[in-house]
Amino acid sequence: MRFEKSKGFRGTVRVPGDKSISHRALLIAALTPGSSRLLGLSPAHDVAATKGCLQQLGLLLEESPGLTRVMGRTLAHWRESSGALQCDNSGTTMRLLAGVLAGSSFSATLVGDASLSRRPMQRIVEPLALMGGKLQATGQGGRPPLMITGSKLRAVDYQTPIASAQVKSALLLAGLHADGVTRIREKHPTRDHTERMLRAFGAQLSFSSGYAEIAGGQVLAPQTLAVPGDISSAAFFLVLAAATPGAELVVENVGLNPSRTGILDVLAAMGARFTIKPRHTEPEPTGDVHIYGGTLRGFSVSGADIPRVIDELPILAVAASVATGKTVVRDAAELRVKESDRISALLTELSRMGAKCEEYPDGFAIEGGRLSGAIVDSHGDHRLAMALAVAGCCAEGATYLRGVECVAVSYPGFFSALKRLLGGTEGEHA
Ligand code: S3P
Repeated sequence: MRFEKSKGFRGTVRVPGDKSISHRALLIAALTPGSSRLLGLSPAHDVAATKGCLQQLGLLLEESPGLTRVMGRTLAHWRESSGALQCDNSGTTMRLLAGVLAGSSFSATLVGDASLSRRPMQRIVEPLALMGGKLQATGQGGRPPLMITGSKLRAVDYQTPIASAQVKSALLLAGLHADGVTRIREKHPTRDHTERMLRAFGAQLSFSSGYAEIAGGQVLAPQTLAVPGDISSAAFFLVLAAATPGAELVVENVGLNPSRTGILDVLAAMGARFTIKPRHTEPEPTGDVHIYGGTLRGFSVSGADIPRVIDELPILAVAASVATGKTVVRDAAELRVKESDRISALLTELSRMGAKCEEYPDGFAIEGGRLSGAIVDSHGDHRLAMALAVAGCCAEGATYLRGVECVAVSYPGFFSALKRLLGGTEGEHA
């Protein structure tokens, strides 16, 4: 697909439902006896993988435009799947579902595509084993497939060695089916969507930044709830607008959970101008973001701030490449075990476009300047594909992006939304 430098544009976008929240809404509704109505779920292929696994486990889902009705049952009434549960590209599906199935009364095998099959699973296998879970990551070096023999679980008090919302969420969902009170302390605070979603379905739990506890044996109550727009999808448009002098963009009804808004803090530190109009607060804060284009400057991010921008670092690296001054990202080694090695893949591709990059084991530095059009590749990673598309819209000359289909993993309509925003002149097939 071909991209060219965009000129100042004005527009409004509504991004699809948040992927992280959609997974949780589906899993928790599926564990809740009765019919729950979920509005505005993400159309991401990852979320379709969660739906598919739930159907394989005997759950009934009814789809109509913009609405998914889930006929939930307590875990004791889920059914063993006749085949392996297919998680495709979705780490969240595999890790959260493993937390649920550890406390079931049957066996399951969870498999993924080539990318998911390279991702580490010991991070959930070890703490779930402390709870009495019987799980084995049978791939080399603790990687999928994941074999689970459901068993009776006991609560744990666990300090996470890596900051991961997926690990925390797997333990919370296991804790819901364990004897006693499960307590999780995090290395650095991560997104709290599981905690908020459990509470929205009537669970008693307490949580604060970096801490969560839940008592096992609770029965949840069905709900109707709406999923806000995905700030991780909005991030691509926010950066494009912020880096395009004369641009003006409103992103409507996007999730503004403080554990996810690191992108806005970084954009503010880069000198971007924007205002926020709040909409809702429960179960998740949402609002409209109105952003103006201008000149950006480099930023530094590390430590406890990393989990709040982890998925936005690819697009922020693009912003850094066209900013003035130096950007430094440290303590982000987790990027190497995402859908691709996002440090190496990103720097390889941005260097092709002329970015001055330095690679660290746990991050990177970029000396800001200009990008030039080039032939670049997504490495089959949805966030790299979208970040490089935006890079193409900021670069001098034409950029050709290979491997664009993977955007469907999180945002199937990304290229049409981009084209609409830019007035139909960009994102055309070469
Ligand atoms: C996610 C948590 C993050 C994030 C991923 C989605 C989630 O991963 O990178 O895209 O929905 O819980 P980790 O929790 O493994 O850091």
